[in-house]
Amino acid sequence: MTALLKIMHTTISPAGAIHGQITLPGDKSISHRALMLAAIAEGNSLITGLATGADVRSTRTCLQQLGVAIEATPTRTRVLGRGALELRAPLQPLDAGNSGTTMRLLSGILAAQSFVSTIVGDASLSRRPMRRIVAPLEAMGAKLEASAEGTAPLTIHGGKLNGIHYTMPVASAQVKSCVLFAGAEAEGETTVIEPHATRDHSERMLAAMGAELRVDKDGIAIRRSRLQAMNISIPGDFSSAAFLLAAALLLPNSDVLLQKVNVNPTRTALLEVLQQMGAAPSLEHVDGKSFEPVAHLRVQSQRLHGVRVEENLIPLLIDELPILAVLATQAEGETIITGAHELRVKESDRLQALAMNLRAMSAEVEALPDGLIIRGPSRLRGAAIDSFHDHRIAMAFAIAGLCADSPTTIQHAECAEISFPGFFELLREHSR
Ligand code: S3P
Repeated sequence: MTALLKIMHTTISPAGAIHGQITLPGDKSISHRALMLAAIAEGNSLITGLATGADVRSTRTCLQQLGVAIEATPTRTRVLGRGALELRAPLQPLDAGNSGTTMRLLSGILAAQSFVSTIVGDASLSRRPMRRIVAPLEAMGAKLEASAEGTAPLTIHGGKLNGIHYTMPVASAQVKSCVLFAGAEAEGETTVIEPHATRDHSERMLAAMGAELRVDKDGIAIRRSRLQAMNISIPGDFSSAAFLLAAALLLPNSDVLLQKVNVNPTRTALLEVLQQMGAAPSLEHVDGKSFEPVAHLRVQSQRLHGVRVEENLIPLLIDELPILAVLATQAEGETIITGAHELRVKESDRLQALAMNLRAMSAEVEALPDGLIIRGPSRLRGAAIDSFHDHRIAMAFAIAGLCADSPTTIQHAECAEISFPGFFELLREHSR
C-alpha cells in the first residue's frame, strides 16, 4: 500500500465540537462479499455504494485476475458473474494487500476451483494466522501450502470438495465465511458451529442469492448452491461511523447525523455498550426491508461511565474496540475489556498499539494478555502516535487528538485509506 500512497503524517488540533450530516463509505465487509459472490453467481449483478477503500480494491483486482469482468463508474459497479466453478487460473500471484478478508474469504472460493493459485499479502497480512482456514479447507479435500509459521503466501491446490461438520476454535466471521463459500461448492452438507456469534453478512447475502442455507441452534448449514446474480445496495459502514460517533459523544456541543448506516445487530454491539456507559445514540428512519438493515444515527455529546466488556460480545464489536478504548479514557471510572485476544492478530497487535499510544497521551491504562483496563476520565495530552500502519489505530487516535490539550501527530496516517478514504479531510470539515 505504501508503494501506492504518499506517506503522510497528519497533525490533529484539539476541537470543541463536531457537527453535520455525514454519509459514510460503503460497508467494507459487505462490499468484499458482494464482489466475491457476484463473481461466482450466474448473471450480472449491479452493486451501488461499494466501499472505496484499498482493501476492497484488492478484492476487485484479485477477481479481475481470476477472469471476472467488473465494470465500474464512480457510483455503480457491474460484476459479470462467471458461475460457480468457472474462474480462470491467474497468471500471477493474487495480491490481497492489507486485507485479511480478501485472503481468507477468497481462499474458500479458490479451494473449489480446478487450478492452483497463490495469494500474497503485505508485511502485516503476511504475519497474520492462516492455519485457521488451512485446517478446514484441507479437511474438505483441498491442499494448501503456507509458511512454516502458518502464514501467507498461501498456495491453494483447488479441486473437488466434500462437506464437513466444523466446530470453529476461534470466533471469526472470516473463517466462517471461508468455510461457507467452500461449502457452497462442496459435495454434501457443510455445517459450521461458532464459539460465539460473529457478523452474519455472508449468511444474509448467500441466502439472498438463493443458496441452500439453514441457520439454527445446531449451526449454519450450506449445500452446493447455484447462486443467482442480484442488485446489491451497500449501506454505510458502522465501523467507520463509530469514529465520528465517538467524536460527537466526546466533544461538547456536538450534534451529528450519520446517514444510512448498516445496523445489522451482529455489528452494532458498540451501541449496547454505549447504552451501558450512559450514552444512547438514537436510530432514525430504520429500514429493515433489505437483506441488511439500515438507519440514520443521531449523536450528541454525553457523559460516559466505565463499563465491562466480555468475551461473548467481543466479535460483535471487534473492529470498534480501538475507538471504545479511546471513549473509555473519558468515562468516569474503570472500563475492563477481556476475552479480546483476537486483537493481537489484527492489522497490528492492537492491544499493544492501544496501550502504548494511550500511555503516550497520558491516559491510565493497563494491558492484559487478552484485553485492557482503562481508568478515566483522563486529561489527554497531545502526542506523537505510532499508527503501526493500522487504519483503525490511526483513526481512533485522531479522535483522541481532537479531545487532547495540544496537537497530536498521527504517523503513517495514510493507512486510513484502507477503509475510510478522505477520513482526515472529513474530520477537519466537520469539527471546529
Ligand atoms: C471481518 C471480520 C472480522 C473483522 C474484519 C472484517 C469480515 O475479522 O475484524 O475487519 O469481513 O468478515 P475476524 O473474522 O478475523 O474476526
